[in-house]
Amino acid sequence: MRAEKSTSWHIGVIGGSGLAAGIELEDAQEIAVASPFGEPSGPVVTGRIGEVRMTFLARHGKGHAIPPSRVNYRANIDVLKRCGVTDVVALSAIGSLTEEMAPGHMVMVDQFIDRTTQRVSSFFDTGLVAHVSLADPVCERLKGLLAGAAELAGGEVHQRGTYLCIEGPQFSTRAESLMYRAWGAHVIGMTGMPEARLAREAELPYAMLGMVTDYDCWREDEAGVEVSHVLEVMQANAELARTAVRNLAHHVPAVREPSPVDTALEHALITAPDARD
Ligand code: ADE
Repeated sequence: MRAEKSTSWHIGVIGGSGLAAGIELEDAQEIAVASPFGEPSGPVVTGRIGEVRMTFLARHGKGHAIPPSRVNYRANIDVLKRCGVTDVVALSAIGSLTEEMAPGHMVMVDQFIDRTTQRVSSFFDTGLVAHVSLADPVCERLKGLLAGAAELAGGEVHQRGTYLCIEGPQFSTRAESLMYRAWGAHVIGMTGMPEARLAREAELPYAMLGMVTDYDCWREDEAGVEVSHVLEVMQANAELARTAVRNLAHHVPAVREPSPVDTALEHALITAPDARD
């Protein structure tokens, strides 16, 4: 029997590039949580902001030592689940594939295109096959709350955006960047997938606050992604993101009503071992 989810919020925050130092929490405690899926990116820091329990995990490890292809996305989602997190907020640096989404802006990602090639992208494997719905990979409720929190922080916030996830670690070629634009992608990054897939399999509502650092390389008159400029924008974005997370904790409803994602596996196509011949 599944345990009912709590009516209290416990927000898991996965901090990407620029956020390795974490977020400010009251009663903060660093805990190393073990996972059967291997090593997570590092220990979590758990604490609270006001009345809301918060748990933070640095996606690339403490010193940003883990490249996108080597992040153990399964272990990261698993340890957040084990900590009792009810909802996951991902903070991610992104490139922009559209003029309107300028560096310094924030994008509430709501769709993904997955171009990764080297990552384990499911908790399910031989023995227990499950096909969860991923049509709407982001939780609308969490996204709405996070968008409000980002606006309150003073961010220029775009309410929707399709995120194209590349394997990296190299940035894209101009031909690829133009192709992704033609596909309808608005922003580009290296870590949103399989993170969002795994959160859904773990029945954790997921929302991503994308922070634009650059225009990738599709603009003809620009040299491409300039790392020094990206780092500068990233630092400014990180402060906004921290404020947004604080605002989120202060503005979630006192009681957490259930989300449809809490029971995603009830609606999945599952083949349990005893159902096979
Ligand atoms: N992260 C930040 N900017 C990016 C870009 N242009 N491509 C991929 N990931 C990114």
